[in-house]
Amino acid sequence: MKDTEMQLQSNPFTPVFGKVPLYLAGREGIIDDLLTTLDNPDNSPDRCTMFVGARGSGKTALITYLAQEARARGWIASNVTATKGMLEDILQQAIAASSHLIDNASSVHLASVSVAALGSVGFTRDQAAPANWRTRMNSLLDQLAKTGTGLLITVDEVDPSLDEMISLVTTYQHFVREDRRVVLLMAGLPHRISALLSGESTSFLRRAARKSLGPIPSYEVEEAFRSTVMDGGKRIDEDALQTAVERIDGFPFMLQLVGYRSWNASHDEGVISIDHVRQGVGLAQEELESRVFDATLSELSQADIEFLLAMSQDEGKTLQANLKTRLAKSPSHVSIYKKRLLEAGVIDEPVRGKLVFALPGFKDYLIKTMG
Ligand SMILES: Nc1ncnc2c1ncn2[C@@H]1O[C@H](COP(=O)(O)OP(=O)(O)OP(=O)(O)O)[C@@H](O)[C@H]1O
Ligand SMILES: [Mg+2]
Repeated sequence: MKDTEMQLQSNPFTPVFGKVPLYLAGREGIIDDLLTTLDNPDNSPDRCTMFVGARGSGKTALITYLAQEARARGWIASNVTATKGMLEDILQQAIAASSHLIDNASSVHLASVSVAALGSVGFTRDQAAPANWRTRMNSLLDQLAKTGTGLLITVDEVDPSLDEMISLVTTYQHFVREDRRVVLLMAGLPHRISALLSGESTSFLRRAARKSLGPIPSYEVEEAFRSTVMDGGKRIDEDALQTAVERIDGFPFMLQLVGYRSWNASHDEGVISIDHVRQGVGLAQEELESRVFDATLSELSQADIEFLLAMSQDEGKTLQANLKTRLAKSPSHVSIYKKRLLEAGVIDEPVRGKLVFALPGFKDYLIKTMG
């Protein structure tokens, strides 16, 4: 009895950005591909992979999880966010994590190189910097190669306007050509990834693997939700679970929000009922609006919003052909804004010429806020 009371204390859901959930629902195929790559990276088409998805689709959680798995398999992992200084950060994290693998003589060599570089003005846009970074990376990778250890680099929140992003991609091509054991995973919003791919100096990336983190199928949401509740030491009524799954609508962040709030609504009861889920869903919806939808809306232009409001007149899918009449605009206007909104991760085109909202609940939010 006491044990159960103790377990009831902690809420097992994780509605925190970047946090790896107890169950990573719906990503099994992607995880399998990447774990296979770690076991045998040399000829894997996934050794350079980009994860693309809307806000809250689980990009950070997924790359964090993969880095943990890589470490457990003996890899060295450097995790960075695309910001100024990221190249130096990749190197420093890798050096720190590999100190136990590097023999004394070479560690002196490495340290002296990196200290010299750190002592200079730091990492700037000057031309010599990337080559310098490459040299220092190479000497570390040479050391790692002696012990058969690979390096995983993860870059979150890909930013196509960052020079170091381009340097990394360019240098990574050399690593591949030189048969170095380096795997590169990048994650970002669709429009950022598209912009990165369209750059001339990153044309190499157009051949890299691209994995889209779309909505999670209902049965997987159901399984993850139920398993999380049970791991936390409670149960959930079947009708309550079905309501939760319906309102989560395949969206990972919503899964955590609804779970977290429903769990709290059930207080010290051992079973989550439909009333608890109803309360939880209400709170979750408000949080989703303030944390995801407001930010998404603030990045849209007036014409984007008009396009979306024209779409919102339909119950389900919108025919692209109907939009030019509704908006009284040319077909090219419709095509341009369709592309913008697809890249912003706000809409999807599951079938050519048919458009839907990509973020569950965003349509109702838009009508409420703008309509
Ligand atoms: N596959 C999943 N199954 C269940 N929950 C998940 C899954 N992936 C992520 N989550 C949860 O969803 C929330 C958002 O995840 P995450 O921060 O990784 O999203 P993101 O795509 O990086 O968002 P952003 O673009 O804003 O950085 C977190 O609370 C996380 O625990
Ligand atoms: Mg993220």
